[in-house]
Amino acid sequence: MLVRQAVRAAAVDLRFSLVDQTKIVTAASELGRNTLDYGGGGTVRLQVLQDGGRRGIRLTFEDKGPGITDVERAMKDGYTTGGGLGLGLGGARRLSSEFSIDSRPGEGTKVTIARWTT
Ligand SMILES: Nc1ncnc2c1ncn2[C@@H]1O[C@H](COP(=O)(O)OP(=O)(O)OP(=O)(O)O)[C@@H](O)[C@H]1O
Ligand SMILES: [Mg+2]
Repeated sequence: MLVRQAVRAAAVDLRFSLVDQTKIVTAASELGRNTLDYGGGGTVRLQVLQDGGRRGIRLTFEDKGPGITDVERAMKDGYTTGGGLGLGLGGARRLSSEFSIDSRPGEGTKVTIARWTT
């Protein structure tokens, strides 16, 4: 997935530790997979953040797919409609410094994460 390479390159550029690189790349991979599998494809926006000496990456995944009826339920570990493990969304949240999800049935889904240097 191209997203993984782009996120890895940005994280290396920002001198993220190997652990932080892996966390943001893994989160991006999960969300990118959802965008493809459930959202029917979409867009990813990568933003470089700076706050004093801290550096960060924000990723915004957006699709115009079917959306999620019950976001709270979808966030729970083990919940899946696709025969996966149901760990993608919860995992992405745990791997990120910031996480937000906005999904509307019939309109689509937008997930934003950020990770800062530690
Ligand atoms: N972009 C999306 N559009 C519509 N539904 C989504 C989207 N992302 C997630 N979902 C719904 O939320 C559920 C949970 O997603 P999550 O990524 O946690 O698990 P999964 O994709 O089913 O399995 P895993 O990621 O562990 O392989 C999905 O099964 C799907 O029903
Ligand atoms: Mg998933």
